[in-house]
Amino acid sequence: MIQTLRVELGERAYPIHIGSGLLSRPDLLSPHFKQKKAVVVTNETVGPLYLNALIDSLRQAGITAISVVLPDGEQFKNWETLNLVFDALLSNHCERGTMLVALGGGVVGDMGGFAAACYQRGMPFAQVPTTLLSLVDSSVGGKTAINHPLGKNMIGAFYQPKLVLADISTLKTLPAREFKAGLAEVIKYGLIRDPDFFVWLEGNVERLLAGDEDALAFAVHRSCQNKAEVVVADERETGERALLNLGHTFGHAIETGLGYGVWLHGEAVAAGTLIAAELSCRLGWLTAEDVGRIEAIFLRAGLPVRGPAMGATRYIELMRHDKKVMDGKLRLVLLNAIGKAVVSDAADEALIADAICARCT
Ligand code: NAD
Ligand code: GLY
Repeated sequence: MIQTLRVELGERAYPIHIGSGLLSRPDLLSPHFKQKKAVVVTNETVGPLYLNALIDSLRQAGITAISVVLPDGEQFKNWETLNLVFDALLSNHCERGTMLVALGGGVVGDMGGFAAACYQRGMPFAQVPTTLLSLVDSSVGGKTAINHPLGKNMIGAFYQPKLVLADISTLKTLPAREFKAGLAEVIKYGLIRDPDFFVWLEGNVERLLAGDEDALAFAVHRSCQNKAEVVVADERETGERALLNLGHTFGHAIETGLGYGVWLHGEAVAAGTLIAAELSCRLGWLTAEDVGRIEAIFLRAGLPVRGPAMGATRYIELMRHDKKVMDGKLRLVLLNAIGKAVVSDAADEALIADAICARCT
């Protein structure tokens, strides 16, 4: 069964198709190609698994495709790797109407999307996510970026895809550690705005870990629905969209501080979410019981609930690069309750440091 959501962004609206075996559905791809030429951007891990199937589908849809295979890893989400995409686009005479198809996880999707936003000032692109994290989060909403040594996702653009083809059967080959990292972003939706989903997750996290297809289809659909609603309300993050960053300010500090790729993004977000929950509790906004529920679900998902010991000063120094900083003041996504997040500058740095110290090993 295929479920289709639409991200209703006017002339930039697009569908998210969710289901199993969608890589072999040329009919879902063809309506979005103005030109019968595509460049598939993937990496050296995902390419051998899914590139042939996708290129076959494109061929059946009458589309000729070339591919660009990037090195695999967060540490390659940078200018040098991005240039490999531009080299391929130029040497293959790609035009402004050629479709770029990003096949892979969030790293490929973020880089492919940014390349599409820049090439000839914008070419169409499609997201074909293959990790849980990219199925539920990064493929939807048009945030594209590369990292800078001083900060995560610091160079990028808002640039929406023409479609998202979310084939959940690709998760069968995803390593367990990567799957668990994706669960951090799934749990996030429950925490920031969907308390019923949080309760559902409390009852079903083991089904997800066991790869139950019905549970996965439900969780991916519900997550994408949440994401699409937020993006439609606030595409360029002037308000509500910032809530999607729960745990991310601390998480990005962990990723940058340890070196990209040492902790997975979802792992850093999990630990960051517990620091945010701890801080919310210290502000008197969240009960200790709720912090316990949050810790319990992350533990059951096999995710870290404590950050690495980098020292609160180092955390805060790295957090100053966060995109939510305003007039030099840190603003954080905090919780008023499970299912209700807010962006706030209420916590001063001493309190933030206390929460970091309490939640880091
Ligand atoms: P990733 O892209 O690095 O993929 C994780 C690993 O799994 C990689 O080694 C990849 O090659 C491999 N892989 C991918 N699909 C596979 C499959 N089906 N089978 C086997 N192996 C597979 O990591 P990710 O967790 O998907 O994405 C993390 C990135 O996403 C971070 O850079 C983060 O900043 C970004 N992100 C972006 C947004 C956004 O809105 N744009 C949102 C959340 C995260
Ligand atoms: N993952 C955060 C956002 O898309 O806004």
